[in-house]
Parts: sequence; structure tokens; C-alpha cells
Amino acid sequence: MLKQLGYIFIIGLMFSCNSSEKTEQKVTIVDGSKHYDVYQGSEMANLMRGMHAFNLQLKKEVENGKITTEFPEEFLKIHTAEFSESKSRNARFDHYSGKFVEAQKLVFVEDTIVPLTERYNNAINLCISCHQTECTGPIPKIKKLLIN
Ligand code: HEC
Repeated sequence: MLKQLGYIFIIGLMFSCNSSEKTEQKVTIVDGSKHYDVYQGSEMANLMRGMHAFNLQLKKEVENGKITTEFPEEFLKIHTAEFSESKSRNARFDHYSGKFVEAQKLVFVEDTIVPLTERYNNAINLCISCHQTECTGPIPKIKKLLIN
């Protein structure tokens, strides 16, 4: 379990907007002689990691042409979740989060005109658009979600 927490910290560092800010937020767990640094994500960061994991799974389904899930209602928390200390909600964020939710929902709507892969990529491209405005660190990871 504690070993897993260590991994979570490493993943947090790889994904975060910039790593300097994360060092302030880390918590150290001591188990006998071993120290584990645990990354404490904000509500928003945790939601984002969930969105990443979900879309990684969804990508496989889209590639197979069969969706077995529905739009996760938790994603709507993007409108209320708290940010890391250095960040805050602003008009640009609200603009992109609205567009993203709309695009992500469309992936689950039957549509005979716009192909599934295109609707999926549209949603992922909105993750990227928002990230380009204020949180560029995770962009390489997010780009891997795109279907070429
Ligand atoms: C409306 C803007 C916006 C959209 C859309 C968006 N993000 Fe983010 N993302 C952010 C912001 C801002 C943060 C930093 C949150 C914080 O540190 O509190 C973030 C953080 C992240 C992180 C880092 C989490 C961590 O561990 O610190 C990942 C990974 C991520 N987003 C992936 C995604 C993916 C994948 C999508 C689309 C499925 C997405 N984001 C959509 C703005 C956005």
C-alpha cells in the first residue's frame, strides 16, 4: 500500500503543470526507516487524473468501435472543484471547461454524421486547448490520448 503511494507521487510529478509547485504540496509518510513522499493533489488535480484514466480506457473502446460506458457525471465537478493554491477559476477556464464537457458528452451520443473517432478526438483536443492556456506540463501525456 505504502509502496503504491510512492508511485502516486511519481505520477503526480510527471503530470503536474510544473514540478516546482508540487514540492510544496508533498507529504512525507514515515514507515520505520523508510520515508515515502506522497503527492497531495487538489480536488481539481485528482479530477483531472480521473479524466485522463477514463479517456485512456475510452480510447480503446473508440478504437474498437464500441462504447460500453456513459458520460461520467463526476466530470461535471470541473465546474466546482477546488484548484491547487497557485491557480483559480477564471473566465478562460469556464469557457474551455464548458466546451470540453459538451464535446465529451457528444462522444456518447449516437451520431451517424460525425464519426466516433472524430468526436472523441474533438474532446481530447479541448483538454489540450485549455491546457495550452495555463497548464502546459501534462500536454504530452494528453496528446497520447489522441487517435491518429
Ligand atoms: C478548462 C480547462 C481544462 C480542461 C478542459 C482540462 N484540463 Fe486538465 N488541468 C487544468 C488545470 C487548470 C489543471 C491544474 C489543476 C490544479 O493543479 O489544481 C489541470 C491538471 C491536469 C493534470 C495534472 C493533474 C495533477 O496530477 O496535478 C492532468 C493529467 C490533466 N489536467 C489532464 C487533462 C485531461 C486528460 C483532460 C481532458 C480529458 C483535461 N485535463 C481537461 C485545466 C483543464
